[in-house]
Amino acid sequence: MAGRIPDHFIDDLLARVDIVDLIEAHLPLRKAGKDFQALCPFHGEKTPSFTISREKQFYHCFGCGVHGTAIGFLMNYRNLEFREAIEELAQMAGVEIPVEARSHNTPNTRDLFAVLEQARKHYEGQLRTAPERQRAVDYLKGRGITGEVAKRFRVGFAPDGWRHLFDAMTKAGVTDSQLERAGLAIRRDHGGHYDRFRDRIMFPIHDRRGRVIGFGGRILDQGEPKYLNSPETDVFHKGRELYGLHEALAGGQLTSLVVVEGYMDVIALSQFGMGNAVATLGTAVTSDHLDQLFRHVPEVTFCFDGDAAGKRAAWKALEISLSRMEGNRAVRFSFLPDGHDPDSAVREFGADGFMGAARTFGLSDYLLDSLKVEIDSSTSEGRTRLVARAAPYLRQIPDDTHRAVGARLLAEATRFDEDLIRRELGFTSGRPRARTSSGGLDRYTSRTLIEQTLALLLQRPHLSARIDAETAAFFREELHDSAMLLKVWEIASGGVASTAVLLERFRDTPEEPAVLELSALQLNISDDAFEAEINGAVGRLRERAQDQRIGRIRAIPFGEWSDEQKAIMRDYKRGA
Ligand code: GTP
Ligand code: MN
Repeated sequence: MAGRIPDHFIDDLLARVDIVDLIEAHLPLRKAGKDFQALCPFHGEKTPSFTISREKQFYHCFGCGVHGTAIGFLMNYRNLEFREAIEELAQMAGVEIPVEARSHNTPNTRDLFAVLEQARKHYEGQLRTAPERQRAVDYLKGRGITGEVAKRFRVGFAPDGWRHLFDAMTKAGVTDSQLERAGLAIRRDHGGHYDRFRDRIMFPIHDRRGRVIGFGGRILDQGEPKYLNSPETDVFHKGRELYGLHEALAGGQLTSLVVVEGYMDVIALSQFGMGNAVATLGTAVTSDHLDQLFRHVPEVTFCFDGDAAGKRAAWKALEISLSRMEGNRAVRFSFLPDGHDPDSAVREFGADGFMGAARTFGLSDYLLDSLKVEIDSSTSEGRTRLVARAAPYLRQIPDDTHRAVGARLLAEATRFDEDLIRRELGFTSGRPRARTSSGGLDRYTSRTLIEQTLALLLQRPHLSARIDAETAAFFREELHDSAMLLKVWEIASGGVASTAVLLERFRDTPEEPAVLELSALQLNISDDAFEAEINGAVGRLRERAQDQRIGRIRAIPFGEWSDEQKAIMRDYKRGA
């Protein structure tokens, strides 16, 4: 397991890369005063409210409220893990991650990626060079797959035989144990290896960064199993990956993704212009899958065959989806006509007719429709049962707006009063509440003094010099709510380059949301007024700490005052 990436390395990295350059490589920016603006990539908008500050090394959207550092941007926009984002930035900056902190770059996994990539090239080449290539080409043609789409998905061929890949790869210097760890070769009990994939059409599986992590292989004629997948390896985890996600993302900005069941479905949809299909790898949809999907798009459609297995799979997907319904997200369930899968349906009905041929439900709609099947909702007893069955599911929806849709549909289906249903679903008042406006709390001037000081320090870390060590100790002793302020002060006093550096020190801490939010707060203070502003704030905090201290001492009977306390009271009365 890789070690922690040291703070000083992250500080340094953030000081070297410029968030404006980074974001500009992904989005068109335009200058707006000191800052830069773009159309927010995290919500749909027509006028730019996504703002990037070079000074703070921080982005913030005034429309949807997202914000973060260069690391956060890569995590959210490119869907990278923290460590991957660091790796990417390190590459941009041309620096090496400290040896003890490397992960994916351990020699082991780095090897695996290289071996898998080499195997992909081999399989793809076999479609052109293998003596029995015609069988494979005929098979693909017979399934209506064009050369163009086969290339897009890097489709390949593993000819029949025990050691095609093994011989080719070992000749090129790959070891048998590497092939085994990559899932490409199987060891015989009494020594020796043979190819896992034989006489199969090969579908390389990419991770979202485009690295080959495994393969699926389909038998050409008859044979078992029809599909063979790579086993779990150090780099391949079935429950997490989605076939076609890399290809879909490479096709451009998406607003929705369609989840289907098979490799061939993804490829056929892409060929017919639906480049936004992905497939699970022969497993049920997991919550990891769904989280991945929602990191890229707000709308997810699960597309299943209309048979019993399809309905079971849909119900599982529904159960996972409930707790993730928030904001502008939407989940839909589509069922194809009997006997069709997406591959056959898109070939019969075309891309335009495809969705029309399917029966599509929204989340709550599908939930109630499924539950109603077992309940006679024409009787009042049945209607009561429907509420009792549906409520535990609908209550899992975290977001009021989404849950309200469920409430309305359930009220309609049962003809019960909507207020009653809403109370059943955990709404505190019966009527839909108007969204509570932030009451101006997003304004700097309406914040507490501590928060104002925090915002100043976070946004201008060099101002930490305006608080000396004695003052900090005074605050620590007297102001019970100053802990976060002092933590920020302490880090900033160590000399940080920007807001972003400060923020990264708070990643995955309980303070993270608060510091992010205060870093994004609009201050409307001109550059030359910052010093005065913080001096004023610190002065007022000192007064408050002083009042606190005097009050505390006064509460102690006079005779019990320590010498220090007596001195404090003397100074105080003298007006020091
Ligand atoms: P075609 O017959 O090529 O059109 O495949 P399909 O995608 O229509 O097949 P099916 O609906 O039978 O399977 C859907 C998905 O389930 C496949 O893409 C595989 O991921 C998986 N799958 C199907 N058969 C097998 C199998 O025998 N073994 C494994 N491990 N997975 C399978
Ligand atoms: Mn099929």
